[in-house]
Amino acid sequence: MAATPPAKANEGTVTDEVTVAEGANDRSNTPNIIRPLDERDQQDLMTKFRGFQTGLIRVGEIGHLIPFHQTAYLKEYFNFRFREEDVLVMTFPRSGTTWTQEIVWLMKHRVDVDAAQATRLDDRVPFLEFDALQPPDVVEGGKDGGVFLEMAKNLDNPRTIKTHLPFSLLHPGILNTCKVVYVARNPKDVCVSYYHQQRLVTLAEFLGTFPEYVDFWCRDLLLQAPYWGHIAEGWARRHHRNVLFLLYENMKKDLLSELRRLNTFLETGLTEEELQKIAKFTSFESMKNRTSTNPMVEAQEAGRFKKGEKDFVRKGTTGDWINHFTPDLEDKFNIWLAKGGHLAKEIPFTYHSGNPQSQGPLV
Ligand code: PPS
Repeated sequence: MAATPPAKANEGTVTDEVTVAEGANDRSNTPNIIRPLDERDQQDLMTKFRGFQTGLIRVGEIGHLIPFHQTAYLKEYFNFRFREEDVLVMTFPRSGTTWTQEIVWLMKHRVDVDAAQATRLDDRVPFLEFDALQPPDVVEGGKDGGVFLEMAKNLDNPRTIKTHLPFSLLHPGILNTCKVVYVARNPKDVCVSYYHQQRLVTLAEFLGTFPEYVDFWCRDLLLQAPYWGHIAEGWARRHHRNVLFLLYENMKKDLLSELRRLNTFLETGLTEEELQKIAKFTSFESMKNRTSTNPMVEAQEAGRFKKGEKDFVRKGTTGDWINHFTPDLEDKFNIWLAKGGHLAKEIPFTYHSGNPQSQGPLV
C-alpha cells in the first residue's frame, strides 16, 4: 500500500467538512437517521449469526443495516474526501464488486498484471467502510481501529475504492468530484452468493440453513440490506455523466463489450488488445486461482474466513439460484421481489444464463 498523502490539488470539490447538523440543509441529515431494530429481529440475528453479538442498527435514508457499535464511522464516510481521479466501485454485496475492482484497477494502471498478481486486491482497492463491519474487539481501541479508512485516505492517485454504502450515506457532492461504477446483479443470485459468503466470513458467521437465510433476506434483515433501497439510488443516477451502471449478468455474457464501455467512461484509452488482456486476466478461473483476489488460505489462517465453507470467489455463474430455491422458497422470494416495484421490472436483470430474455418468474 502506498502511504503518500493525497495530492492537495485534487481535493477540490468535496473538501468542506459537512457536520451532521449542516448536512440537514444539504440533503436531509443522512448519517443522523438511526433506527433501532425491534427486539425480535435483533434476537433472531444474534441467534443465527455468531458475528452479530453486539447487534445491528438501521442508518440513513434507506435504513442501511450496520453493526450497532460502528455508527461513529458514518460521519467519516459522509465527509470522505474523494479526489477527481477516484473511481468508486459501488455495489450491494455479492453483485460483482471484486471482479469490477480488479478490472477498474487494471484499467487505471495500464494493465499492470504483474502488480495485480503480486499485491492483494484489498490493498490496491481499499474497502472504504470495512472498519465499520469489524467486530468491536478488533476495532474499538484495538491496533486495527480505522486502518481501512486510513488506507483509503492515503492511497496514491489514481485511486479505486470499494464501497457497499448507498449513495445517501455519502456526500451529495460526490458525483461532482469523481466517477462511480455501480454494479447490480439479479437478487436471486445475490441472495445465494451472500448466503455462502455470510457463512464464510467470521465477522458474520451465519449458522443457519438456506431457507432461514432467505427468511432474513425477505425481512431485509441482512448486513448492508436493504437491497432495493441500495439499487434504487444507483439506478436513479444511471444517466449521470459520472456514473456507469453495469449489470453482472451482462459482464458474464459479453465482458469485452462492458470493458469497452468502461474504457470510454473512465477515459483510459486502452487498446483492444489491452482490453482482451484484461478480459483474460479477470476471467472467473483466473481470479479464483489467484491469491491476490481469492485469498482463502491467508484469510483462514488470519481467522477472517471459516474453514470448510465455499471460496470467496465461489462459482461465478448466472442462475445458480435454481440449485438452491425450492418452489416454496421461490414463492416467498417472489413476494419480496415485488417490493422492488417498478425497479424489479425496469432493471433488465437476467435470471438464467443463456437466455437473456428471461426475467425470472413473474412477480
Ligand atoms: S463481496 O463479498 O460483496 O465483495 O462480493 P462480490 O465481489 O460483490 O461478489 C462475489 C460474487 O462475484 C463472483 N465473481 C466473479 N464472477 C465472474 N467472474 C469473475 N472474475 C468473478 N470474480 C468474482 C463470485 O464468485 C461471487 O459470486 P458467486 O455466485 O458466489 O460465485
